[in-house]
Amino acid sequence: MTFNPLEQRGIPLDRQLRNWRELNVDPIDPDRCDPYTRCRVITMNGIEVEAILFSHQLARNTVDPEIKRQLAQTRYIEAQQQKAVNWLLPGLSSVLETTIAYEQVAVDLTAWVARMEPDPYLKQAYQFGVLEDFDHLYRYANLYEMIEHRKAESIVDNLTEVMPGRPTRYHHRDPVDNVRDPYAKDQADPLSKLHALTIMSTEQQTMNFYMNTGPTYMEPIARQLYQEIGLIEEEHVTHYESLVDPGETWWEQLVNHEYNECYLYYSFMEQESDPKVKAIWELHLNMELEHLHIACDLMRRLDGREPAEVLAPRAAQRADVRAEQGLSARTARHADGPDHARRRLRARGARAVREDAGDDPRRREPAERPGDARARRHVRA
Ligand SMILES: [Fe+2]
Ligand SMILES: [Fe+2]
Ligand SMILES: [Fe+2]
Ligand SMILES: [Fe+2]
Repeated sequence: MTFNPLEQRGIPLDRQLRNWRELNVDPIDPDRCDPYTRCRVITMNGIEVEAILFSHQLARNTVDPEIKRQLAQTRYIEAQQQKAVNWLLPGLSSVLETTIAYEQVAVDLTAWVARMEPDPYLKQAYQFGVLEDFDHLYRYANLYEMIEHRKAESIVDNLTEVMPGRPTRYHHRDPVDNVRDPYAKDQADPLSKLHALTIMSTEQQTMNFYMNTGPTYMEPIARQLYQEIGLIEEEHVTHYESLVDPGETWWEQLVNHEYNECYLYYSFMEQESDPKVKAIWELHLNMELEHLHIACDLMRRLDGREPAEVLAPRAAQRADVRAEQGLSARTARHADGPDHARRRLRARGARAVREDAGDDPRRREPAERPGDARARRHVRA
């Protein structure tokens, strides 16, 4: 990140409230938009949902009514932001099409984080998880072909590979086995904290999405698949949330949440190719800068510590939903511009992450599942 959010002032909180007309954003066009614009929308929706839920939990654990009021004020703005962001998704897309886009986020964003993560233990945790979301994308793609008779490639636009990952039947673990070791808050690279918070939030949103939309299907095979993968997303949330050091105070966690929102809006604003969406990222960044200052004041007051001690003054790399951006300059053959050479790349970043993890599913026997012709094709290749 080339700027320090701690040194910037945003929009004062009492000027952040928007009217109905301003919240009623124009949705993106599913046939014309860059799939990575939709990935950014899905990511930021997960981040805003976590901001709201975390603030509610914090308020429920806060005795001082004055602080509760302060939290309520900021939280209302987070709720408005969540509406503006999630309402960018078009009503035209089916639940299953949105699901495929959710799994594209899980694959590409996690693959990017895995490549950028400085801590080897945490890196392994992301590599472990991404192999499972690979298979979810593949399973939902098969379902899409079966019940909507269309190819998932039309949604992910050949940017993310649709092929088997670690077979889903191996994802069902004893719940205790999903609990990992946390990073140590005083030694961890500040970037590791942002990564853990980001992936935890997006996986939580995926879990919530499947919990709520799964039963809207009538086809038994769809209902069963949402139930099965919904339970694995519960495992994923357990896996990723356990990476966060529980020794962080509530106020430190609040500061990390607001800092992460600044980091992601700034990163996405820099990459966004759709001017209307870019304007929303910019507006929200300016709001988050103020949220961060409010959170820092609370941490100073209630913890008696300086937030700069726990934050990255300048994170070196901007966050990205595009896995291939985590590759070395030689491998990622295109510039970081809005018009990335999409078809040439075929998501080599995601493939490289899988190879790093040493679990190349092409070496395995294809699993016996509906629509396995696709798997056999790849295994032979
Ligand atoms: Fe927010
Ligand atoms: Fe998934
Ligand atoms: Fe997941
Ligand atoms: Fe915020």
